[in-house]
Amino acid sequence: MSYQEELTVLTLEKQPDFVETPYIESLTTRALDYVRAGYPVHFCGPAGTGKTALAMHVAARLGRQVILIHGDDEFGSSDLIGGQLGYRSTKVIDNFIHSVLKKEESVSKQWVDNRLTTACKYGFTLIYDEFTRSRPEANNVLLAILGERLLELPSVRLGEGYIQVHPHFSAIFTSNPEEYAGVHKTQDALMDRMISLKLDHPDLETEVGITQAKSGIPWRDAKAIVAIVREFRTLGVNNARPTIRACIMLGRIVAMRGGTVAAGDPTFRELCRDVLNADYIKVTRDGQAAGLERLDEIIEKCCPRSSTLVVIAAESPRTAPPPARRRQPLVNVASAAEGAHHGA
Ligand SMILES: Nc1ncnc2c1ncn2[C@@H]1O[C@H](COP(=O)(O)OP(=O)(O)O)[C@@H](O)[C@H]1O
Ligand SMILES: [Mg+2]
Repeated sequence: MSYQEELTVLTLEKQPDFVETPYIESLTTRALDYVRAGYPVHFCGPAGTGKTALAMHVAARLGRQVILIHGDDEFGSSDLIGGQLGYRSTKVIDNFIHSVLKKEESVSKQWVDNRLTTACKYGFTLIYDEFTRSRPEANNVLLAILGERLLELPSVRLGEGYIQVHPHFSAIFTSNPEEYAGVHKTQDALMDRMISLKLDHPDLETEVGITQAKSGIPWRDAKAIVAIVREFRTLGVNNARPTIRACIMLGRIVAMRGGTVAAGDPTFRELCRDVLNADYIKVTRDGQAAGLERLDEIIEKCCPRSSTLVVIAAESPRTAPPPARRRQPLVNVASAAEGAHHGA
């Protein structure tokens, strides 16, 4: 098998649990417009702000096959464009004059295209996730691709100096801010060639929607979880954590346990402490660590004490009552809604 065949080309489709609120729609529409106008788009923001999910979504909407690259400090340019990775051996046996056998063997290095070259050649959509994790030297090759739409290749590649980038090639980048560990400063020249959209934590509606979609818990519970996480986030030094990932974790674990989102539920409180790292957050009150205390107050404020018990109407008021009325069942609202969801 050649190296070329081992490259993974993705066909992305819109994910059924991808949440599209006005906030997400606005970002998607802007990104699609810029890409269709021929400009690379760059989603930049702290971890957990939805950059990768959005890049995948925009790529899916473009409807072309996708090549995905994750930035890596170890990358050299050959990891992007390709290099002389394999060997090709040629054997010529010349037996034209049957009494004379002439044998020639040569072994030459074989150029193998890598992902970036393949995307440029065939007009695929490139998602270069966390591209600033790669060193700037490795990413230099992008300058001519994004600027002049030329891919410069070392002349060893079958004598070609460059190839013209396919008109349908487009690129979507994501990156964390420069102050993040393991991130390289990007050249201005590269940033200058792309349109950067800055992402922050999504708005309330989007966070609730994502929590609900990814966990299957009722909307009311998702709302309470997101309220806790958003308030707890404001206590941190730079408001970077906890992110939507914590909301999803809480929602999924509650759903898996069939648990409740209630201030009076010790299991839920314990879960919040574990997921939100309340022990470690640097919040003090009168010189004492106060992360756990603050979390308890926040849970109390954002959640009901217990899941409410309500009467489910057994029949419509207009129908005649049955001769002997049976006691109507008391049902936990959260688990009833959840059961309905799972059964759907
Ligand atoms: N619009 C969305 N709909 C559904 N899930 C989303 C959406 N945006 C983000 N997520 C989910 O939120 C989590 C964090 O998003 P991700 O794209 O990985 O963030 P980042 O790349 O900024 O670190 C992931 O589990 C992702 O699936
Ligand atoms: Mg990401």
